Amino acid sequence: MLEKIQAIQKEIEAYVIEGVETLEQFKLEFTSRKGKIATLFDDLKTVPNELKRSVGQELNTLKQLAQARFEEAFAAFENTTNAQQSVPKIDLSLPVAADQYGARHPLSMVRERMIEIFSRLGFTLGEGPEIEDDWHNFTALNFPENHPAREMQDTFFLAKNPDIALRTHTSSTQIRIMESQQPPIKALAPGRVFRNEAISARAHCVFHQLEGFYIDENVSFLDLKKALYHFVKEMFGADVQIRFRPSYFPFTEPSAEIDISCLICKGKGCNVCKQSGWVEIGGSGMIDPQVLENCHIDAKKYAGYAFGMGIERIAMLKYQIKDLRLFTENDVRFLKQFSNLG
Ligand code: PHE
Repeated sequence: MLEKIQAIQKEIEAYVIEGVETLEQFKLEFTSRKGKIATLFDDLKTVPNELKRSVGQELNTLKQLAQARFEEAFAAFENTTNAQQSVPKIDLSLPVAADQYGARHPLSMVRERMIEIFSRLGFTLGEGPEIEDDWHNFTALNFPENHPAREMQDTFFLAKNPDIALRTHTSSTQIRIMESQQPPIKALAPGRVFRNEAISARAHCVFHQLEGFYIDENVSFLDLKKALYHFVKEMFGADVQIRFRPSYFPFTEPSAEIDISCLICKGKGCNVCKQSGWVEIGGSGMIDPQVLENCHIDAKKYAGYAFGMGIERIAMLKYQIKDLRLFTENDVRFLKQFSNLG
């Protein structure tokens, strides 16, 4: 009997309990009511009376050993399973990653700011098609047929119908508005324009302009200057200088290029302003009386001014962007820099 007890004791000590199943097995073998120890207790009756006491004590020690091993293993498993269950798949204590909001495109921001400035001066907003006919893009604007002035703007024509082209400037919308309204007219026409040019840091075949014009009785070049002075100060700040440089457009007379003092070098001369201290932001002039007449506006009674500015050019100066291609590449590293700007 004592030998059996010792054998079982060794078995219990050597028993490897490595999972819930072996623990269950251990229980069946040793501590259950039909297990080896319970059987030994049954056998205790066969032990001679004088030995019963000491054998009984040994048996009790064995029972306690088995019970202790069982409880120890049980507790260990309970801890690990609890631990496993209490580790959530998602760590709820981590700080939440900020939502990724898209940023306004710098060209949209600049366009809207330009429109806002001019609308305070009473300009309304107009719109015209990007695919234009020859009349609105050229002929009504005094570009005579076969005149070299048409070559000022390299045009994407429709191969099958050379009367249709992608508009080369927003002045085409000026014609459309003038055809459909009578003065006083004070309108803006923002939009995309197209020219057959090689893409580089300074030129693109697709870009944006904001056209503005004002037709009424007694409108003069002074009114044009006042509007543009106001615009430039609002857009770039009070320190910026503006100058009008005589130029030529078939649809304005007189015509002037609008220059502002270079914001990069503050007029001292740098690469951006080609050492001149000035950068061009657009064209302007008094609408040629023939253009008014082309649109059935009485040129004896009314006069008007017009201007057209490059939106990319304004954005490049405002944000010191050196390459025009960045506007169309959709690189988020570039675009997200504008998310905090107004
Ligand atoms: N349409 C001209 C251009 O694209 C700009 C301009 C507009 C000039 C209005 C004079 C008046 O170059």
